[in-house]
Amino acid sequence: MTQPTPYHEDQELDNNTSDNIHFRDILEQSMSRRSLIAKTASGAVALALASTLTGCNDSNDDNNNSTPAVDPNKRPEKLNFKPVAKNLNDIVTVPEGYQATVLYALGDSINPRVGAWDDNNIPSGPSFQFRSGDCHDGMHYFGLNTSSNRFDDNVSTQGLLVMNHEYINPTFLHPKGPTKVDNRRPEDEVLREMNAHGVSIIHIKKDATTQKVEFIQSSVFNRRITASTVMDFAGAAAGADLLVTSYSPSGKQTRGTHNNCGNGYTPWGTYLTTEENFIGYFQRSSSDDLKRQPHEIIALNRYGLKAGASSRYGWETAIGQIEAQDLYSRWNADVNAAQAAQDYRNSPNTFGWMVEIDPFDVRQNPVKRTSLGRFAHEDSACRVVAGQPLAFYMGDDSRGEYIYKFVSTANWDVKDINGGYTMGDKYLNSGILYVAKFNNDGTGQWIELSYGKNGLDASNKTYPFRHQADVVIFARLAADSVGATKMDRPEWCTVHPENGEVYVTLTNNSNRGSSYPTDAANPRNYEDTYAGSKTNKGNVNGHIIRFKETDNKTTATTFKWDIYLFGAEAKMAANINLSGLNDNNDFSSPDGMWFDARGVLWIQTDDGAYTDVTNCMMLAALPGTLGDGTTATTSNGQQTIVGAKVTDENLRRFLVGPKECEITGIAMTPDNKAIFINVQHPGEDSSSYDKPSSHWPATQTDPSNTTARPRSATVVITRKDGGVIAGT
Ligand code: FEO
Ligand code: CA
Ligand code: CA
Ligand code: CA
Repeated sequence: MTQPTPYHEDQELDNNTSDNIHFRDILEQSMSRRSLIAKTASGAVALALASTLTGCNDSNDDNNNSTPAVDPNKRPEKLNFKPVAKNLNDIVTVPEGYQATVLYALGDSINPRVGAWDDNNIPSGPSFQFRSGDCHDGMHYFGLNTSSNRFDDNVSTQGLLVMNHEYINPTFLHPKGPTKVDNRRPEDEVLREMNAHGVSIIHIKKDATTQKVEFIQSSVFNRRITASTVMDFAGAAAGADLLVTSYSPSGKQTRGTHNNCGNGYTPWGTYLTTEENFIGYFQRSSSDDLKRQPHEIIALNRYGLKAGASSRYGWETAIGQIEAQDLYSRWNADVNAAQAAQDYRNSPNTFGWMVEIDPFDVRQNPVKRTSLGRFAHEDSACRVVAGQPLAFYMGDDSRGEYIYKFVSTANWDVKDINGGYTMGDKYLNSGILYVAKFNNDGTGQWIELSYGKNGLDASNKTYPFRHQADVVIFARLAADSVGATKMDRPEWCTVHPENGEVYVTLTNNSNRGSSYPTDAANPRNYEDTYAGSKTNKGNVNGHIIRFKETDNKTTATTFKWDIYLFGAEAKMAANINLSGLNDNNDFSSPDGMWFDARGVLWIQTDDGAYTDVTNCMMLAALPGTLGDGTTATTSNGQQTIVGAKVTDENLRRFLVGPKECEITGIAMTPDNKAIFINVQHPGEDSSSYDKPSSHWPATQTDPSNTTARPRSATVVITRKDGGVIAGT
């Protein structure tokens, strides 16, 4: 990580402690402006302020007279855009008749008092409290009712776009890449890194005729949630001894969220952000095992924090001059005091959760919803059926990890829309957590992870569970002990809006067929060459599994499954390319995935196996239903159950991203006329800050650019004729 070039403070735009006070002033000013939203009964005053500042139009008129009358909410009969060809260009390529516009890139200011990003004068670490974070990921659009200042699922002309900033690309985040001085990370760099994590909430408006989307920089709704933002715990583990830290001796709070990957959203209008690869942010000394009980060591190892582990970014090495030392010390997970309330031995337990954020509530702390379990949370999809409990489907993205569902105790009541965190308390604190077992015959079970059931108690051989708090904090150990099925890296989940079938991407697994034997649900193990030299093995290209709950009930404890789609190269053998992909729709490593409200399935890739031929991409699909295919035998002789083969009319490539990026994050306005995606880490393979292998997003408007730094960014895609995306 240490760069040969030393860090120079004078390369910063605004990097001293007085600037930090300046940023606190801005924060206080933002908070007092935001309080208008909460303090004004109608909210009208606050929005009037925003309108005055931006000159924006408050109209909720979503009618568009420029295109023929169509029902934008109808599922298209077939996909009507021309497929985008695979390519290695340094640009977002969209179909003919569409346009892609960069909306919000790393470092962009969300406050008029904070200056613009400048490639040649990288802004200070503290200023990133008011700038776009890095590595944009999961995302959702929430329509804004400009009368109430609350959520309205029918509004397309103004909304809050909420997105994750999963991690950072330090090579391009800092003036000369990441540095160390006397083996310590400079505080300004660490603050820039911590602030570049988390979530952005940005206020956007869309012209109802041209579909042009703009970011309203002066809006009181714009805010950042970072790796330092105060958060509350709620649910089964709130207040548990294993969440006690020096910061929160009661175990009811922590600071920050990080590695926010896929996302979810609730029917009451809040955002769910996930904490995926959180464990690598902590260091634990090789001698720490000597201070731990055997069961503590079992749990730490299961979550990947073995004794002697160093932290990914070295945040614990910073010396606190701008902020208190404690902000950095908490990334050291060693036992180094007499009691847990005096150190950060439990700090890793305060991450790995599903976090609820109400984008419209600018005052309350985000809430970590612990009843949904602690693991490398990738995504969440909520199945909503009026009068039934809600079901939240979730993946744990690591090789051989599991698929979970949480079923609320409360039945869904549409009157709860806009109830904010109070509804989070109602639906996300009390319920049952399950883990999935996939049988080879196409059936499956949800196994309950409740203390006192299925052997989850103090006599458990895997881990001595004392209560439900232990079960959710160490959900992986609970799932291990009940015999859940080890999957090929569960990433995003989504629910078919018409038939309630649940889809989960299984991105790939290099160890399938070796350390993880194949089974019908994870059936492929094959070899493929990369760039003519390297050989990839296992489930190289990933697949998408789907399942239907028994009696179509959210509370079902059994289901039926098949594999909707297998990633593959078009030229691969038919017993690998089991879905019959061709050059218009072949892909590898599905990751982001979302059904829009019409039932168009969007599939995005984060790939390293086909990137010798094409950059990562997004495809549109019109899937059939579970059981529309047949049984098949893979190249390695494993029997499986595969959905109907795809055609050009129901699966085609919509977009290809710039060099070395991942395409992720997917959101649409309710009129289906603007679609948002995130381009994560373009140029991530670059060897040094001064040798970028991508110059995107500058290349989006100037393809000849050969100097700009690559930056993760949000892109909005619209049709040049203002019509509905992907088909009518
Ligand atoms: Fe952050 Fe599993 O992708
Ligand atoms: Ca290949
Ligand atoms: Ca992902
Ligand atoms: Ca990635």
